[in-house]
Amino acid sequence: MLEAVERQIEQFVKSLNEKDIQRAIAKIPAGKRLRAKLMLEIAGTSPSVIKSAAIVEMIHAASLLHDDVIDDAYTRRGVASINAIYGNKSAIMIGDILYSKAFYELVDIDRFVAKVISNAVVQLSIGERKDVYMGEKFNSSRDDYITMIYQKTAALIEAAAESAAILAGKNREIYRVYGKNLGIAFQMIDDILDVISDSKTLGKPALNDYKEGKTTLPYIYLYEVLSENEKQKLLAMHKKELKPQEQAWILEQMKKHNIIQKCKDEALALVNKAVELMQRAGEKGLEQIAIKMVDRSF
Ligand code: FPP
Ligand code: MG
Repeated sequence: MLEAVERQIEQFVKSLNEKDIQRAIAKIPAGKRLRAKLMLEIAGTSPSVIKSAAIVEMIHAASLLHDDVIDDAYTRRGVASINAIYGNKSAIMIGDILYSKAFYELVDIDRFVAKVISNAVVQLSIGERKDVYMGEKFNSSRDDYITMIYQKTAALIEAAAESAAILAGKNREIYRVYGKNLGIAFQMIDDILDVISDSKTLGKPALNDYKEGKTTLPYIYLYEVLSENEKQKLLAMHKKELKPQEQAWILEQMKKHNIIQKCKDEALALVNKAVELMQRAGEKGLEQIAIKMVDRSF
């Protein structure tokens, strides 16, 4: 039924009556549609659920168009990003169009759903700003990292699950917490993959986060266990183009101190919490989505 969400997005975009915008938006790869998948699994496939799922995916797509401009990223999901094809100005404006069209459609859905989703967009914008500012210097605070990824990534996944529960007349709190845990784990996994995957698998350069200034969980935990000299060495590499031997040193230290396993365990603990919630609610499909998210990644 994800197909129905794709058709809904196409229809929303087509109704703008702007052929060139339609062509540009068609170049955005669909991705996993995790948020839409959750919503359909929670609330079924009524027209208002399909519309809400399309709205959430359009907001997500808009946020990534802006994010790629902010991050100077020229590939997304293994293909050229919209800013790489059309330039930064166009990418921002196409993001604005997607985002405002989504809000135009959202007001017709349900007052509570509109509140939950619009609040999440405020959170993700605040989270993105934190990500950028925190990247100016090395961040050694795990708490600040968790708050930032919660806002930047988990807030919209949480809102997708909660708003689907509202539409389905289910207990919104249970589904909200499920979405929140899954969302935080999702970003943690994304950050772990940046360290352990090669650039071909990632569809973007490997070990790119640290070069961009992002002190993700593996770097925070590594910093905690390094000696004073090694700490200085790691700090000196922050926000710099890494030489092959520097990359090798980071990976070697991560291995030596079992950092990746520690991060994986933390992400897994959150996924397990999400799975338990769904076991109790008798939601097999949602359990599977959580389990598959981890299996597919590692
Ligand atoms: C990806 O993070 C970025 C996000 C999940 C959020 C981006 C949010 C904004 C730009 C706020 C503006 C919002 C709207 C709706 C216009 P990442 O850079 O860590 O992940 P990546 O590796 O996928 O790029
Ligand atoms: Mg990015």
